[in-house]
Amino acid sequence: RQTGLTSFDPGFVNTASTRSNITFIDGDKGILRYRGYPIEELAEHSSFLETAWLLIYGELPTKEQLDDFTYRVLHHNMVNEDFKRIFDIFPKEAHPMSVMASAVGALSTFYQDSLDPTDPEQVEISTIRLLAKMPVLAAYTLKRSLGEPLLYPDNRLGYVENFLRLAFGTPAEEYELNPVVSKALERLLILHEDHEQNASTSTVRLVGSTQANIFASISAGINALFGPLHGGANEAVLHMLQQISDEGMGIPDFVEKVKNKESGIRLMGFGHRVYKNYDPRAKIVKATAETVLDELGVHDPLLDLAMQLEEVALKDDYFQSRRLYPNVDFYTGVIYKAMGFPTKFFTVLFAIGRLPGWIAQWREQNADPTTKIGRPHQLYLGETERHYPGV
Ligand code: CMC
Repeated sequence: RQTGLTSFDPGFVNTASTRSNITFIDGDKGILRYRGYPIEELAEHSSFLETAWLLIYGELPTKEQLDDFTYRVLHHNMVNEDFKRIFDIFPKEAHPMSVMASAVGALSTFYQDSLDPTDPEQVEISTIRLLAKMPVLAAYTLKRSLGEPLLYPDNRLGYVENFLRLAFGTPAEEYELNPVVSKALERLLILHEDHEQNASTSTVRLVGSTQANIFASISAGINALFGPLHGGANEAVLHMLQQISDEGMGIPDFVEKVKNKESGIRLMGFGHRVYKNYDPRAKIVKATAETVLDELGVHDPLLDLAMQLEEVALKDDYFQSRRLYPNVDFYTGVIYKAMGFPTKFFTVLFAIGRLPGWIAQWREQNADPTTKIGRPHQLYLGETERHYPGV
């Protein structure tokens, strides 16, 4: 009934929405590179802020550039005292992703001097502000949900250490950092930093294409990440494992349920639009899970359960024929749980990790003079013209 359409592609399975120089994925081979560097090398040798610089500015920083960047990020991590009242208005049981999306959006009300996407200096300062404040807002979201006091950052600590102290410390005692835990968290955050045109990044770009400010764009990205088919999968995996364990369900029985489409149950943490091979991030996460639980002396039966589930699924024809493998979310929850984060908070950790990618992608688009407002077509299937009664 409608003319002029060139393609119909639900879920954008076949459509490139942009050109980009940031992240390369070969889903058949299980390859992920940021600016050409393999994810395995960055996860092992880089830091969160160094990788953020790489994503945003295109090259690895020199030592001076990284020192200066780290200094600027750490020195913008205070949150305006008036702004902190935002954490008081939400119910304690509110989902932290909703609080985070609201808080990041609200940054634009406090930083009206850095909202103009056409001014490179304003884009730069808002980049630093976002990187600086995101983990602080996350820690405050957690603290308020627990009814605990908010701490001030301590800039003798690094980016990840500061976040851990703000999340788990109290004013009464010195917070004892566990270097194995902070190293592991840093590695997980690096793994999450970018993943080309996933749903949340595409959302950030779509909102940014209207020349909305970067805080509004990232807030929209946080909301897109919230869903269980995207970043919310890390929380959903833990619920799934817990449920299998609580109900004493055999793993083969659960897998049969998943295979029966009528059940509507998916194996959370499995499958990916782009990877048709083992997600390279999942390999690193799995190894990290064993290291962290060992270090903390935690024996979590849910980790054993996850490993058995993986083994059974990978041998099953249903998963093999559809090329479904564990993705980045399959093992992260077990690690976050061992670190002491509540299940509801897991996706916030994904958001902290993904922030540099969102910023890099927003800036790449914003700097490109050929950018057009994103505006998909539709196939109209509704009524043809008809008339209001009596007209
Ligand atoms: N469990 C059971 N069946 C699945 C699963 C799963 N996790 N994932 C895909 N399938 C089946 C699906 O039913 C379909 O079967 P059929 O061909 O018989 O209709 C086939 O595999 C292809 O699936 P799809 O839904 O067309 O694939 P998609 O590219 O649209 O969806 C996905 C990708 C990630 C949304 C999906 O695999 C999924 O729902 N996975 C579980 C949620 C999850 O772990 N999400 C995190 C993704 S990775 C991190 C991130 O990006 O946030």
